Formats: sequence, structure tokens, C-alpha cells
Amino acid sequence: DLRQIKSEEEIKLIQKAADISVQSFLRVLKATKPNIKEYELEAELSYNLIKSGGTRHAFKPIVASGKNACALHYNANDNTCIDGEMILMDFGVCYANYNSDTTRCFPVNGTFSERQKEVYNSVLYCLKEGSKMLKPGISHVEYEKNMACLVEEQLVKLGLISAEDISKQDPKKPLYKKYFMHGTAHHIGLDVHDVGPYKAIEPGMVFTCEPGIYIAEENLGCRLENDYLITKNGNINLTEAMPIEINDIERIMNS
Ligand code: GLY
Ligand code: MN
Ligand code: MN
Repeated sequence: DLRQIKSEEEIKLIQKAADISVQSFLRVLKATKPNIKEYELEAELSYNLIKSGGTRHAFKPIVASGKNACALHYNANDNTCIDGEMILMDFGVCYANYNSDTTRCFPVNGTFSERQKEVYNSVLYCLKEGSKMLKPGISHVEYEKNMACLVEEQLVKLGLISAEDISKQDPKKPLYKKYFMHGTAHHIGLDVHDVGPYKAIEPGMVFTCEPGIYIAEENLGCRLENDYLITKNGNINLTEAMPIEINDIERIMNS
């Protein structure tokens, strides 16, 4: 029970882990170019992690280019990043035994295609709207249900499922699960998936928020993940400094 509500000291260590993650991501954006290997980008993460005094990766980083982004736990990281593809990178830093957990997506060639932008903006919308719900007064189960509704709405907008098909779906097998098949809020702390129980959301808890849309038929997967400290009336994004807007990512990659 003690592990759910973080003390000031614990929050500082999670923030430090998140800050190292931000710097690692900036390194990766600068290093990315067509034909680079996924493991070369993993090496940028490892370099910055060790240089910054991190203890270890929170988990083996996922550097998934193109269709690999649709395999949720892909971490072989041995493919070549092809011009025109998007990369999904899910990585975390463990600093003094406390963990961060973040995901970003970015184009191999520094410029998102129109379709990549559409899907990315849908996921970003879910992250922005969904993370507002991470606050006291909502249960974990309710939060996940509301997030699923947000993603479902975007899947209709993207032309992947129709409102008519949703109205006829088997409620036990909702259609959105074809494109979005995981939960979006887990505790982080001493473990990257920290202990629960997952019931009421309370001040002092630290949760990830990580909506995603995975379109296997288009070889395109997108997830965006931040870490939030729950406060009395809302939350604080501990990963605010990690670029996430399309314009910012393109500007950094091309500067
Ligand atoms: N890669 C583990 C997670 O994001 O939860
Ligand atoms: Mn993650
Ligand atoms: Mn996570």
C-alpha cells in the first residue's frame, strides 16, 4: 500500500529519471536518418542513460520502425529504419531505483506523411483529453473505459471502423480492440509497472497515460506515453519537457 502514494523524495527521483529520458529522446531525434538500424537508436538511449548516472533501462527499449510498431512488445531492435516509415520508441530510465516510462513516435526522414500525421494527431488528442481524466474522483476502471471511448471515436474519424458497425458489435468483443488492445494507465515507481491495487486515483500517485492506435494493414503503429503525478485537483505532467507536437519534432529533426 505504501508504494502507491509517492513521497516528495520519490517524486524527485521519478522526475530525475524523466529528465534523463527527455535528453535521451533529443539525442535520438538528432541521430535518426534513413537506413539507420533500430539498435543504433537504442545505443543513443543507453549512452545518455549511463552518461547521466542512470542505473539501467527501466525495461529493454522498444525501437520499432514501420510495421514493427504493431507488435506490442517488439524489442529485437535489429531492423533497418526505412525512408518514409515512422518509428515508435518506448523507453524508460531507472534512476536510483525509480523509473520513468515514455513513448514517442517520429518519422525516419524527419517529415511526417499526411497519413502518419492523421494517426499521430488522433493519438495525441486521446493523450491530451485522456490525461485530463487522470485525477482524484475517478476509478481506474472508469478511466480506462473513458479512454477506450476516446480512441473508438478517433478510429471512426480515421475511417478504420464505422459508427454503424459499432452499433451492431458484440459488446463483449468491441471492434476498437483490433486497433487498440492495451490499457493506458499504470503506476510507476520502484517498478516500471508498479504495484496496485488499481482502484481509486488519489493525490501522490504517479501514472502513465499511453493511448495507441495500431494499423497492421498500413504497417503503421502509434503510441504516445507520458508520466503524470496526481494532485488534489488534477495532475502534473512530469514529462512535459519531452517534445510531442508534430511541428516541434520536425523542427528538431531538421535543425
Ligand atoms: N513498455 C511498457 C509500457 O509502456 O507499459
Ligand atoms: Mn512504455
Ligand atoms: Mn507504460
